[in-house]
Amino acid sequence: MDKNPLILGGTTEATALCLALSAAGIGGTISFAGRVMRPVRQPLPQRVGGFGGIAGLERYLADHRISHVIDATHPFAAQISANAVRACAEAQVPLIALGRAPWSAGPDDNWAHVPDIAGAVAALNRPAARVMLAVGRMHLAEFAPNPQHFYLLRLIDAPEAALPFPDCRVVQDRGPFTTKADLALMQAHRIDLVVCKNSGGTGAQAKLLAARALGIPVVMIDRPALPPRLEAHDVAAVLDWLGHGRTDLGV
Ligand SMILES: NC(=O)c1ccc[n+]([C@@H]2O[C@H](COP(=O)([O-])OP(=O)(O)OC[C@H]3O[C@@H](n4cnc5c(N)ncnc54)[C@H](OP(=O)(O)O)[C@@H]3O)[C@@H](O)[C@H]2O)c1
Repeated sequence: MDKNPLILGGTTEATALCLALSAAGIGGTISFAGRVMRPVRQPLPQRVGGFGGIAGLERYLADHRISHVIDATHPFAAQISANAVRACAEAQVPLIALGRAPWSAGPDDNWAHVPDIAGAVAALNRPAARVMLAVGRMHLAEFAPNPQHFYLLRLIDAPEAALPFPDCRVVQDRGPFTTKADLALMQAHRIDLVVCKNSGGTGAQAKLLAARALGIPVVMIDRPALPPRLEAHDVAAVLDWLGHGRTDLGV
């Protein structure tokens, strides 16, 4: 049977995987949640929108004769990743996650770890600061209880609703970012605290390297727990797993 993989996307890794699948002549479909107005163009057919929970994803796998699922979603997209584990187990479709290692603090970093968004909100219950709040668009309202800060927000799309911050600046941009540009951005806005998710990868690491260079503390939101699943850390390992690489994946 021809391979017909479904890639759960929304990350630079998913885009890289699609390029490799297309180049290898494997094909497949990439799925987006639909959170971003103009997703990056992909070399594979794409679908957009939720599946309708575990049962909906299971139905999609059967209806579209999906042979493999590659979960290349963001490490904080815990719901779709958990759904994929359950749906693939039920449908007996092999699943692998294409993940990124989390960032870890070096000796020159000053990170305070918090377990989740609520922990970051609690950490901001402190005197006014100039905060680079790099948590994406979906969770901004949760920071409303701390209006005393200046917030610098970098978002792919302009916010749809009014922001709950009396003093903030929105910069519309899409990664990957460079350390030089992030240093300049933080200096221009006199940032003295960074709040971010431990996304890992290289595309969003620049702000941490800039924070290190400027001696700025970081509130680091640790990753949510996910069910156990097979994991690969690069595109080549996924191709191996699909039987199109150099060797079989030993994971
Ligand atoms: N969370 C982040 O920090 C972050 C950062 C960068 C990019 N992203 C990307 O943005 C998307 C949404 O993230 P999230 O944190 O809102 O996810 P989530 O909380 O895990 O997912 C919520 C619901 O959105 C739908 N969904 C999520 N990803 C999907 C996909 N790739 N294709 C189809 N449906 C999807 C599913 O709906 P149904 O239950 O109806 O199927 C899922 O139950 C993900 O694809 C992720 O890769 C997230």
